[in-house]
Amino acid sequence: MQRTPPDRFWPPSQPGNPELAAFLEMIEDGVLLIDAARAVHYANPAAGEISRRIPANPDEPDLAEALLGLMPQELWATPAGQRWSGEVRAEGSDLVLAVRCYPWTVDGASALLLLFNDVTEARHRQDELRRRHAELQQTYASLAGAQQQLLQAEKMASIGQLAAGIAHEINNPIGYVHSNLVSLRDYTSGLLELIATYEHTLAPKLDEATLAVIAGVRQRIDFDFVSTDLPELLSESREGLERVRRIVQDLKDFSHAGHETTWRRVDLHKGLESTLNIVWNDLKYRARVERRLGELPLVECHASEINQVLMNLLLNAGHAIGERGVIALESGHDEANDEAWISVHDSGSGIAADALPRIFDPFFTTKPVGAGTGLGLSISYGIIKKHGGRIDVANHPEGGAVFTVVLPVHQPLRAPAAPTAPPTS
Ligand SMILES: Nc1ncnc2c1ncn2[C@@H]1O[C@H](COP(=O)(O)OP(=O)(O)O)[C@@H](O)[C@H]1O
Ligand SMILES: [Mg+2]
Repeated sequence: MQRTPPDRFWPPSQPGNPELAAFLEMIEDGVLLIDAARAVHYANPAAGEISRRIPANPDEPDLAEALLGLMPQELWATPAGQRWSGEVRAEGSDLVLAVRCYPWTVDGASALLLLFNDVTEARHRQDELRRRHAELQQTYASLAGAQQQLLQAEKMASIGQLAAGIAHEINNPIGYVHSNLVSLRDYTSGLLELIATYEHTLAPKLDEATLAVIAGVRQRIDFDFVSTDLPELLSESREGLERVRRIVQDLKDFSHAGHETTWRRVDLHKGLESTLNIVWNDLKYRARVERRLGELPLVECHASEINQVLMNLLLNAGHAIGERGVIALESGHDEANDEAWISVHDSGSGIAADALPRIFDPFFTTKPVGAGTGLGLSISYGIIKKHGGRIDVANHPEGGAVFTVVLPVHQPLRAPAAPTAPPTS
């Protein structure tokens, strides 16, 4: 709606000085002189020009009032004699005006001189720049995050390869030490049997002096103790070796050289136990592990990656516990959705409400510098998402945090997303 300016506003009442009047009529800044009652004493053409850009308001046909109506409460509240400046926006349009207001006098009474110009374009450009800047910053942050994830994945892959290589090397000597120990056990029991037989059969036939010599040696080497301790030592050594063998196997399972490109049907409980063995050193002094595991079908996944997720959850649970506590592991199969789940519940401090929405963000950590990278959960999230699953997190009503990994039992028939390495032959 085009409005006609009222007479008292337009054309401007001329001030006394013709040069000043010409100047005021020429400039692009709006100039408006009003008295305390908001009556307009002077307005230059630019003021009229600008006020016409304000969206039409049928209740306010007076253009000067329309313009003054945009001014904030703050301006009217400014004590007389003080300047005010700021920006005002016209409702219903994108018009932005920069306004400066100076104390003035009209016929000896206090008045206000308002200078304003249309900064809509500049403001738009600035807003656009700000938006672009924020976008760029976000892109930069996600690129930096992606780069860190790649580095981390690369690191994990090389650690995996290294572990698999070492495991392979250790396997060989373990194999022969193990079989030697079996032979040693058989040989010693044979030798002990032989000695016992000598004793039973020969001792009664020996003279006192010979028996005394034998008794001396027997005492010196503490034969009675040795003969009972020897089999025990051997069986302890075998147990120790058995543990080394298990750890090596776990390392192999765990790393699987990080070259998985096809989905394999995996026993998640086995992966959980391997991973527990690997992180046990970190957990054993602070956490008791309670298992309430259900029945799980074999799950199509990349075992080493799922183990990495379980490792992150177990380590975080251990960190959250601090001194001493419990880590409860549960699992189950949701037949309706054909999903398998494993949950890790710790008796730690739980997660603060303001941290909860951010824990999966790359670099979000509440741990001291050097103690946490803030990458564990973000990498885990990526892995589980790639598997078409999810990680749920909640604070348990009885305290501590619960992380639940939910995985589809079957992967859709498709090539696995983003293979981590070329297929090995
Ligand atoms: N079990 C847990 N209990 C409490 N807070 C946790 C737990 N697991 C993760 N968090 C929170 O999530 C943050 C991010 O975890 P993560 O991504 O593994 O990085 P980091 O362990 O290096 O800090 C942790 O710093 C911690 O604040
Ligand atoms: Mg962590």
